[in-house]
Amino acid sequence: MRTVHVAIFVLVCCTLHAAAQETAAARERRMQWFQDAKLGVFIHWGIYAVNGIDESWSFYNGYISYDDYMKQLQGFTAADYDPDAWADIIRESGARYAVLTTKHHDGVALWPTQASGLNVVEATPAGRDLVGPFCSALRKRGLKTGLYFSQLDWSHPDYPHHTRIQKRYDPLDDPGRWNRFLTFQKRQLSELCHMFQPDLLWFDGDWDYGADLWQAADQRALINSLVPNVIVNSRLNGYGDYATPEQGMPVCRPRDRWWELCMTMNDSWGYQPNDRTYKTPNQIIRLFTECIGMGGNLLLDIGPRADGTIPPEQAAILKETGRWTSKHAEAVYGVRAGIPHGHFYGPTALSPDSTILYLYLHHLPNGPLVLKGIRNKINRIWVVGNGTKLTWDIKMKQYWSSVPGLVYIDVPERVLDEQVTVLAVLLQGPVDLYREYGTGIESN
Ligand code: GLC
Repeated sequence: MRTVHVAIFVLVCCTLHAAAQETAAARERRMQWFQDAKLGVFIHWGIYAVNGIDESWSFYNGYISYDDYMKQLQGFTAADYDPDAWADIIRESGARYAVLTTKHHDGVALWPTQASGLNVVEATPAGRDLVGPFCSALRKRGLKTGLYFSQLDWSHPDYPHHTRIQKRYDPLDDPGRWNRFLTFQKRQLSELCHMFQPDLLWFDGDWDYGADLWQAADQRALINSLVPNVIVNSRLNGYGDYATPEQGMPVCRPRDRWWELCMTMNDSWGYQPNDRTYKTPNQIIRLFTECIGMGGNLLLDIGPRADGTIPPEQAAILKETGRWTSKHAEAVYGVRAGIPHGHFYGPTALSPDSTILYLYLHHLPNGPLVLKGIRNKINRIWVVGNGTKLTWDIKMKQYWSSVPGLVYIDVPERVLDEQVTVLAVLLQGPVDLYREYGTGIESN
């Protein structure tokens, strides 16, 4: 009898363990939509849009007092908020997902949280849930929903930091108080998961403490139990799924299997009418192709006004990005990182079976383009979104040498895109690169 009990116990333990340990293949499947999506829209919307100042940091860093910062609650009307219009323009941009700030470091929740009165329903003239209708609008259009949630909550009486110079207490000195905060935080997280069933959770602010103090493992387990297939960004102290370089464009391919560059259109996350440093659509689309070429995603930020409208400069960038992504869809969605630098002057990407090499042209060609070190026979080259077949010719190929020749491709001016032209090179078989240093004569 005892042996039977032990056997059952072991069986149950193994099953639980297997359920907790996601296999690599299952993880790949869970991450698939994210890997294929390439473009997401980040939305920083909060009371900071009222004065048009830095989100949360403005009071934390002492540029405005906490009380004056909080006065913005009164001006946050969301009067013209139209979640369907947001979702329409996001879809038009070609983004496949969006991430909305449900709570920034200032602690103001955009949904009717039961865990605190500091939410837009109770504390602002907006007076209603702003998260749910947006999630539904995204879903209606087949877009994935991402929710940003700040770990830091500088307004909560049990959060240790209030401003850069005002600290309430140290969690190590008062673990009871810290646990009260964590309980509050888990309650808010559970609400978000229950109410909105997000496809992605975007944490921010884990830098204050380590995984143990944050109880990051518990938080992840809680989220997984409520939304089993959710994807979590890296800012959960090692319990996330993908890396989030911020503002800084990687110069070589990140080591992380999945990553996403989050980037502002000007220099601010939230709405700041005084910030006129907008990048041009051309700069943004070029950066986007670099992300694609290095196997990552771009999470491009917008900052709506306090009334919920999207500023025209931002809408214009989304529209032009959309023109480009829809024309070049085959070279955007579902492609994989390209070939290493040195073979082509510019970003490249590969089709999932590696038989099509996409070349992104950042500059007007001054003479034919050149492709080096490709061992495959080339079957066809065409202009993506335009269809024109291009001719090419091969130079420097010696019959006695295994070093591939240089492929010169002529690109007529009439096929050029205003932003980034994309060529597709159809190879005979999966890409096969020559990565050596050249050779002396092999035979003659
Ligand atoms: C930072 C900032 C924050 C911003 C975020 C976006 O971590 O604290 O203000 O929301 O980056 O990535």
